[in-house]
Amino acid sequence: SIIRQSIAYEAKSAMEVTESFSITEHLENVFARAISLAFPEYGNIPVIIAPVNSASAKYGDYQCNNAMGLAKKMKEMGVNRTPRDIANELQKCCPLSPIINKLEVGGAGFVNVYLSKDYAAQSLKNILRHGIKPPRVLKRRVLVDFSSPNIAKQMHVGHLRSTIIGESVCRLLEFLQHDVIRINHLGDWGTQFGMLIAHLEDRFPDFLNKSPPIGDLQSFYKESKKRFDTEEEFKKRAYNRVVSLQSGEPNSRKAWQLICDVSRQEFQAIYDRLDVTLRERGESFYQSRMLSVVDFLRNKNMLEHDEGRQIMWPNEDRSGIPLTIVKSDGGFTYDTSDMAAIRHRIEEEHCTWIIYVVDSGQSTHFNTIFKAAERCCILNPTAHRVHHVQFGVVLGEDGKKFKTRSGDTVKLSDLLNEGMKRSLEQLRSRGRDEILTAQELFEAQEAVAYGCIKYSDLCHNRISDYVFSFDKMLDDRGNTAVYLLYTYTRICSIARNLGDDFCYLLKVLDTVEIVLNHEKEWKLAKTLLKMHDIMIKCSKDLFLHFLCEFCYEVCTVFTEFYDSCYCIKKNKDGEIIEVNRSRVLMCEATAAVLRQCFYILGLKPVSKL
Ligand code: ARG
Repeated sequence: SIIRQSIAYEAKSAMEVTESFSITEHLENVFARAISLAFPEYGNIPVIIAPVNSASAKYGDYQCNNAMGLAKKMKEMGVNRTPRDIANELQKCCPLSPIINKLEVGGAGFVNVYLSKDYAAQSLKNILRHGIKPPRVLKRRVLVDFSSPNIAKQMHVGHLRSTIIGESVCRLLEFLQHDVIRINHLGDWGTQFGMLIAHLEDRFPDFLNKSPPIGDLQSFYKESKKRFDTEEEFKKRAYNRVVSLQSGEPNSRKAWQLICDVSRQEFQAIYDRLDVTLRERGESFYQSRMLSVVDFLRNKNMLEHDEGRQIMWPNEDRSGIPLTIVKSDGGFTYDTSDMAAIRHRIEEEHCTWIIYVVDSGQSTHFNTIFKAAERCCILNPTAHRVHHVQFGVVLGEDGKKFKTRSGDTVKLSDLLNEGMKRSLEQLRSRGRDEILTAQELFEAQEAVAYGCIKYSDLCHNRISDYVFSFDKMLDDRGNTAVYLLYTYTRICSIARNLGDDFCYLLKVLDTVEIVLNHEKEWKLAKTLLKMHDIMIKCSKDLFLHFLCEFCYEVCTVFTEFYDSCYCIKKNKDGEIIEVNRSRVLMCEATAAVLRQCFYILGLKPVSKL
């Protein structure tokens, strides 16, 4: 007979499992062991584990689907074994696991896994006792470059997408205990500063002593651009100011600083409203590093002259599109700053994972930067992962690029204001202004407004374009923030109805066991315990719509549970006559799981809505 060993942790029984982990990953380990034990020559094949959808619950909770593929492989090698036969062998060779209740071979050769209810009940209690603990993953130092608008130019909906996706990516990776650096790669160093500074000198000659009143930087930018295009003298001076700024001349620096401060305040107002945290490290930060990366590339013989410019090919064979490292006037470009930045991030920050949350339109740029960094040995692809987390454009309801009615780009603060207005209208139409206090109403208004804007961005596959529609995002049915927030408040009100009786959750936990006998109780428990699987899945290629789908699933499965399993029984006078405390604990565990997911998605849960 085969020696069975306990795996993955020391625990001998479900009662001892306190560590959080992904069930799928755990089962992958179990079956990887089984495969290498039963069929050592196929020990390296990827293990296939899938959750069983609950309509076919009689086939267990998870399945291992490797037997069919193994049979095929063996046949190619001249060995004839049926998938069922192989599945039987795998079943026998599985090491003991405290999370597995039993294994069975079914159908054409599936190994059906029945999870242990003791383990599930215990895990749910752990969630209630200790909060949701992250699964164990290999920790990395990650830099997330996101938001990154440009000074004096409009922060547009593309930057909004980057801000929302980037913040959630950071929260997900922080939850998984990675060492995350959040970087706002502000466009604060381009040639546009030459004309801005020159214009500032003319309009507010006293700017060195008194802060100039440039509230509307966009029109200031437009004015200066117009002069740049029409006035020869102005144009010359603008070029001069770029040179003096980049060489650190104090008056130009001061002017630059003033202009940046105006933009900075506008950006910060948006970040505060959306609860986004960023460290500013704009292109200007890399000025000295651009000088040194040019030397570095020149010494490595990577630079080539091309009509006065110095360019670098991303590939040895001169395929692809070359980067412009030095312009013919000696200035640097977007390419130069990204080469300096990637070098800084790898060599000085020691990051092993660098994430750029930028629209898909820049994918050629980033691929070229990555290839070039590899070519000159800044980047070692086996040690460093560079990752363009790209996203599609935002469309209006007419299916065209998102614009205001008059055809202008939409100002982000106006967009957020509109969301606030719409969400208040909705709350009023439900009569919430009569039930909630002014403070509660305001919190609900913000939660709905900002929540729906973020969620409608995150809930689609980010690669595709998406249609911005307040009507759709404020719908309270379907996979929307509003539906999730309402379901969450409903769950919270269940335990709240019990008043003092349920105040001391920890005490309840000590005296009440979670029972998972009803089919819908079991389904809810299994759904909640998928959370770690989902987090790991989302983190692989940074797709947050899987987490949104999971939240939606939790809410619908909860509703099924709540419809068929009473938690609190009342008589016709509305008095409580019976409480199923195990089920109330299930409600609380559901709320805890949703809270954690909401946090990552940037939704603010409110207990009253
Ligand atoms: N400022 C740029 C833009 O608005 C985005 C910068 C993205 N980050 C980077 N390292 N290139 O398009």
